[in-house]
Amino acid sequence: MHLGFNTGQPLRVLVAGASRGIGRALVLRLLQSSDVVQVFAVARNWSQDMPDDARLICLNADLTDELAVQSLADRVAGQCGQLDMLINTVGFLHEPGGQQPEKSIRQLSLTALLQSMTINAAVPALLAKAFLPLLRGKHRCIFASLSARVGSIGDNRLGGWYAYRASKAAQNMLMRSFAVEWQRLNANSICLLLHPGTTNTELSAPFQANVPEGKLFTTDFVAERLLAVMAQRSPADSGQFFAWDGQPIPW
Ligand SMILES: NC(=O)c1ccc[n+]([C@@H]2O[C@H](COP(=O)([O-])OP(=O)(O)OC[C@H]3O[C@@H](n4cnc5c(N)ncnc54)[C@H](OP(=O)(O)O)[C@@H]3O)[C@@H](O)[C@H]2O)c1
Repeated sequence: MHLGFNTGQPLRVLVAGASRGIGRALVLRLLQSSDVVQVFAVARNWSQDMPDDARLICLNADLTDELAVQSLADRVAGQCGQLDMLINTVGFLHEPGGQQPEKSIRQLSLTALLQSMTINAAVPALLAKAFLPLLRGKHRCIFASLSARVGSIGDNRLGGWYAYRASKAAQNMLMRSFAVEWQRLNANSICLLLHPGTTNTELSAPFQANVPEGKLFTTDFVAERLLAVMAQRSPADSGQFFAWDGQPIPW
């Protein structure tokens, strides 16, 4: 199976947040393709089995720890000179029995707001910073970070979910700035913010009751769609926000 990236080179890919959910499905799908020669899969814990494949390297790192992100980048740099794709799927919405998305401003807590900002906004920026030496150059290279439509300010008509919405909007701005800088360091760079659609994972599990029929996606479907959206983009699209179906999303 070919991914359609047409880079003319075997693909070295890093997936952050690869142990569960959409990140794991992306790893499984990437490994189905002969275009891919190496997949670095990153998470803190490995609760589900990962495939036995010589191209797959599973690495443990807490990506909210800046030093851990740097030592991860150093380790990957020791194994390959450049990355062709870096996909960040790390995200946080709720913790079972703990923090939940706010229905009202009265539920806002600074601790919860900062936790969301750290995981949803700072992690992709820390990855961009630490991995920049593997992303710069002349090669076609994609940095895709999963955002969420609810992070769109222009699309916010329902309110609520303060910390999650704000942290995804902050991610969008950080990545947009990175896209501008990265274009100067690699004219073939493509930095994308992607909305996967509501997907059946632990992250969305408590919020699936009102999802319309046919609109709750499997992780496998979403992985296939997101890779297709990435493959269809060019450097002219860098710094943009797209949904799983390739449609642009307003900021
Ligand atoms: N699911 C949806 O309906 C939906 C909708 C819109 C947007 N999104 C976005 O899509 C992305 C993926 O969502 P998902 O549903 O697949 O989430 P998920 O099932 O909760 O998976 C999150 C992944 O991130 C990893 N992770 C979390 N914190 C980490 C950290 N500090 N360091 C390293 N890895 C960490 C987790 O691994 P460990 O915990 O084992 O480390 C796990 O592999 C998120 O950004 C989410 O906001 C999802």
